[in-house]
Amino acid sequence: MQKRITITSALPYANGPLHIGHLAGVYIPADIYARFQRKKGNDVLFVGGSDEHGIPITIRAKKENKTPQEVVDEYHELIKNTLSDFGVSYDNYSRTSAKIHEETSQDFFLKLYESGKFEEKETEQFYDEKAGEFLADRYIMGTCPNCGNEDAYGDQCEKCGSTLSPTELINPRSMLSGEIPVKKVTKHWYFPLNEYEDFLTKWILEGHKDDWRTNVYGQVKSWINDGLKPRAMTRDLNWGVPVPTPKNPPKDWDSKGKVLYVWFDAPIGYISSTKEWAKNNDKNWEDYWKNPDTKLVHFIGKDNIVFHCIIFPSMLKSHGEYILPENVPANEFLNLENDKISTSRNWAVWAHEYLKDFPDKQDVLRYVLTANAPETKDNNFTWKDFQTKNNSELVAILGNFINRVLVLTNKYYEGKVPDATIEDKDAEEIKGYVTKVNDFLEKYEFRNALAEFMNLARFGNQYLQANEPWKKLDNPEEVEKIMFTSIQITGALAQLMEAFMPFTSKKLMEILNVKSQLWNDAEFGKIQAGHTFNEPQLLFEKIEDSQVEQQVNKLLESKKNNMKTNPNAEDAKTECTFDDFTKIDLRVCTILEAEKVEKTDKLMKLKVDTGVDVRTVVSGISQSFSAEELIGKQVTILLNLAPRKIRGIESQGMLLLADKEDGKLTFISPEEKVENGTIVG
Ligand code: 2FM
Ligand code: ZN
Repeated sequence: MQKRITITSALPYANGPLHIGHLAGVYIPADIYARFQRKKGNDVLFVGGSDEHGIPITIRAKKENKTPQEVVDEYHELIKNTLSDFGVSYDNYSRTSAKIHEETSQDFFLKLYESGKFEEKETEQFYDEKAGEFLADRYIMGTCPNCGNEDAYGDQCEKCGSTLSPTELINPRSMLSGEIPVKKVTKHWYFPLNEYEDFLTKWILEGHKDDWRTNVYGQVKSWINDGLKPRAMTRDLNWGVPVPTPKNPPKDWDSKGKVLYVWFDAPIGYISSTKEWAKNNDKNWEDYWKNPDTKLVHFIGKDNIVFHCIIFPSMLKSHGEYILPENVPANEFLNLENDKISTSRNWAVWAHEYLKDFPDKQDVLRYVLTANAPETKDNNFTWKDFQTKNNSELVAILGNFINRVLVLTNKYYEGKVPDATIEDKDAEEIKGYVTKVNDFLEKYEFRNALAEFMNLARFGNQYLQANEPWKKLDNPEEVEKIMFTSIQITGALAQLMEAFMPFTSKKLMEILNVKSQLWNDAEFGKIQAGHTFNEPQLLFEKIEDSQVEQQVNKLLESKKNNMKTNPNAEDAKTECTFDDFTKIDLRVCTILEAEKVEKTDKLMKLKVDTGVDVRTVVSGISQSFSAEELIGKQVTILLNLAPRKIRGIESQGMLLLADKEDGKLTFISPEEKVENGTIVG
């Protein structure tokens, strides 16, 4: 019987590009599941969209001197295209700055408000009087009470890693104005999560002990055991969905300057994306969210578990009309070359950059990330393993088997499937793999499903190798049977591949001249005698050492940059020997005379007393100093630099200067007066 399935994937924050951790953790498994369930003939709705609210976005905007809308417009476009380029087959990809989302989340809020589900509470929060804004924790900086880092944030010290609250900071300051923030009373609407403990215990702890992943179940259990607390569902912020005013507001209603908490509105984004889709496709959105026969599945990363298993379901329950997720197959994290993926440290493989370096190799990454999916524990991506999985598995096992079948069919039968039958035991073997792939996919075990798919290719290789049709050409009937059987394996591979590697599957189906079939089709994967193939082409190609080295070097470059205490500092120059250094003659000298070189913007002609002599030096400093302020200054000179003619004047040495942030120059001078000619070194 056809099932209706609503599949959601976490809405990525539109404040940066996607990396392989996002793909492995959420988008590829969600897509495999959606493609698989469609292939099973189910009524699948797969929705997503960009999460465009929240502090990370306003911070990025501030940093880049843009409006939050400009930031989300840019990244929404990039993320949407990247997902589509990787074949993530959304029925609808929306965004939380869409009008329909504002209406949907406001309606949701009002429904809870009007049925008395919120508690109103006043608390004291930091306020920037100069900026006239309440400050989110991230907008307050100060000294970390644990390690003394002067640039700790109100929620976390990035130096020692401790979690903080803004009141713990020593000398707090506002990031907006630099002023000392003051405490001010503010009112918010709290969702009493504590009242949902019984519901959650029954629904998840008792009801999903066996079918939810242990990591998800475990996290939920520990949250509930620790005791749930009411959570504010609104914030004082000027970016987000404005808190709506009810029809008959109480006299003291004041929602000015308040928006919905990003984790209140973001998951409602799944519902608004559904509504948008329904509107464009003449469907009823409520079938996908309110019909108890519909199965709802959320694909997320482990950092989103509390929001999807505790807060959002409690909101849905409280609202009363919605179904609850049947499963939340959250993944753990993917590391990169044994180190945590980090946007700020640029320790990542960016999905859109991968496609520039490996165009048309979406499926290779889909394969590697699924084979390494962090389903039960954190996992690791290395470029070496990427290369091995491509060369030793996709090329050497899957590609090799399919290629041999295609080449031999062409050679022996001019691409026409011979008239033969497959032995029952071989047909059973193929069916066994199809069932295993199916059963693993139904259980969200994508790694295992992919492994069984590859085992079918391995079986194909072993079958060909064991039967060696090329040695039996004097027995055409036997060869026909062997080839017919191998073709059936290939046909099954083409169908099974579709969910995991949709691009290659399409290519293979074109070569085999077959169509995508439904899983429960009695002819699933079968190819009839007399059927003709199209021209073969290679499905996978080797990845060379140099390609992988290039990627590793790119990462090493990030590592090097990360060690810099000043990200603007130029890379260190190549090492010089002590002997090299002793050749350089640095001295302290005093500027005696200074005059601008005519018809130049920058040049100044100086007379300096070097202790050794009095000489002329030409220096490009007139935009940083006036002639008068130079006279009498003690500065450092590179004394033995070979003389150079600059604008007709011979310059006999070079003065040492550093660039300042404002573009002006500053001299490298002794802190105290010393004799001219004193050696610097
Ligand atoms: O963690 C994140 O990237 C969030 N933007 C996920 C939101 S999921 C959903 F609730 F929208
Ligand atoms: Zn600290």
